[in-house]
Amino acid sequence: MIRIGPVQFEEPFCQAGLAGYSDRAMRVVARRRGCPYAVTEALLDVILCNGGQGLKNSIDINDEDHPVAGQLIGSDPQTMTRGATILAEAGYDVIDLNFACPVKKIRNKSRGGHMLADAPLAKSILQSVVQAVGDRLPITLSLRRGFDDSAESEQRFHEILDFAWSLGVAAVRVHARTVEQKYFGPSRWPFLTQLKRRHSGRTILGSGDVFTAQDAVRMLRETGVDAVWIARGAIGNPWIFAQVARLLKDPDASISPPTISEQREALAEHFEIAVEIHGEQLAARRMRKMGIKYSRFHPASAEVKRDFILVRSLRDWKSVLDRWYGVDGPGVMPQPTAADEVNDLDLAAAAS
Ligand SMILES: Cc1cc2nc3c(=O)[nH]c(=O)nc-3n(C[C@H](O)[C@H](O)[C@H](O)COP(=O)(O)O)c2cc1C
Repeated sequence: MIRIGPVQFEEPFCQAGLAGYSDRAMRVVARRRGCPYAVTEALLDVILCNGGQGLKNSIDINDEDHPVAGQLIGSDPQTMTRGATILAEAGYDVIDLNFACPVKKIRNKSRGGHMLADAPLAKSILQSVVQAVGDRLPITLSLRRGFDDSAESEQRFHEILDFAWSLGVAAVRVHARTVEQKYFGPSRWPFLTQLKRRHSGRTILGSGDVFTAQDAVRMLRETGVDAVWIARGAIGNPWIFAQVARLLKDPDASISPPTISEQREALAEHFEIAVEIHGEQLAARRMRKMGIKYSRFHPASAEVKRDFILVRSLRDWKSVLDRWYGVDGPGVMPQPTAADEVNDLDLAAAAS
């Protein structure tokens, strides 16, 4: 059983926060296929505080979407605290503070992973948020393993983490790359092993380089983390959750790719919910990059990907489904590498 304060779930994995992807559509499609816990994309505190359409778009959960963490990012203790209060009132089950995002400073302000270079600010945000809403719902923290590879950076990581535990933070999630590394080079899993040993009674989620169900199981076994945060491995792959559960029950189980009709079902469902949330035009734009990721399970992956890139409407989406997913058959299991993942993200960014 994984415990994040009073929030509990059985399977040791969750769907990551993923900007531009992990909206309610992605979360619900995943939940229907075995994902027990999911996280929103990073929600900017000032957008929540400004209200209006930005707030409405950020607060989007429904009965099917629990337990769910609302993830907050920002630079200022006051706006972060107001943002946390808004999320608590909106019905999120957990608030996750993002001290992990490597996007560079905006107007000289630290946020996300840059908190790891500014321990006093990080601690003041933590203290203020926990004081304001910590008695209502669990607070968790998302971190990189450091800002860079220096000894001072590692020291600051531990200083912030120890402070978080002392305030009663319910769990932390650590992406074992540095902020400077962004997405390049490997995620250093031995760091997670050491961390879990050092804080054995605490709930720690591990992140970085989990592209397949086998990777997720390996991370659990090698590092001892309580749960795996499945990020790029879950984009266009909601089947990964059931596959991990299966492998945990039986390490020798053979994992088959989703059939063409299973793929069609997920693609249709995902688009339908996306339209409900974003309207047809924006949904089509967001879903192009999703389609690209889903296409890797199709035997004609390159052609399907090319057709998804051209989608502009629900009609276009349906015609890709009719053309490529009309006849059932076996899917293919891709063997992604980290380099493929980075390339696909570039392609997705170009398509979005
Ligand atoms: C496109 C993209 C968007 C992301 N957005 C977020 C986000 O909003 N919040 C967050 O905590 N992490 C975010 N991340 C980081 C992932 O959740 C995860 O920690 C990272 O990708 C490492 O895991 P992986 O190597 O298994 O993908 C994002 C990553 C990518 C690739």
